[in-house]
Amino acid sequence: MPQTRNQQIINRLTKSIVLIGMMGSGKTTLGRALATALELDFKDTDKIIEEKAGRPTAEIFTEYGEEKFRKAEMNTIADLLDSRKIQVIATGGGAILNEQTRQRIKTHSLSIWLNADIDTLYNRVSKNQTRPLLQTDDPKQTLQDLMEARIQFYEQAHLHFKLDHGSMNAALGDLLEQLAGFLAE
Ligand code: S3P
Repeated sequence: MPQTRNQQIINRLTKSIVLIGMMGSGKTTLGRALATALELDFKDTDKIIEEKAGRPTAEIFTEYGEEKFRKAEMNTIADLLDSRKIQVIATGGGAILNEQTRQRIKTHSLSIWLNADIDTLYNRVSKNQTRPLLQTDDPKQTLQDLMEARIQFYEQAHLHFKLDHGSMNAALGDLLEQLAGFLAE
């Protein structure tokens, strides 16, 4: 019997999948769905950091500063990748700012950049006020500025996945298809 596409992906996957991309690109939602489809564990680095600190990201930023958050982010990603367990990992949008993290992701994972346009990102992030970096007078412009500064790092991902305006299910199907093609090469 021919193997199903998802089974083929599972058989060929030798490293964790790490999702990178801007706030609002759907790393958590799509990541969780991807993990379910591939019967892998799902990890969200923001959530791990928040659980360890016992407080939400916004409070970590105000009480300890962004630098402390970035350090916790780097250590969390290092622990997950060092474990060598194959899983799906959603990272915070700024994780790739850290050079060691970038290096680790490059070497020890299959990274996927979830790329969405600014309007889509802004529509998603404006639904809640939890992102400390967007507490500015013009959050859409801030988002644009962050994207411009970070795109050089997102582009380093092994796989680029462009999100269109379709449903989550359609996006998951397209992503699995792209992933299967990438692993078959
Ligand atoms: C950040 C993105 C957030 C969170 C923190 C900083 C960023 O995660 O890590 O607020 O620098 O882009 P999401 O990308 O999951 O929103």
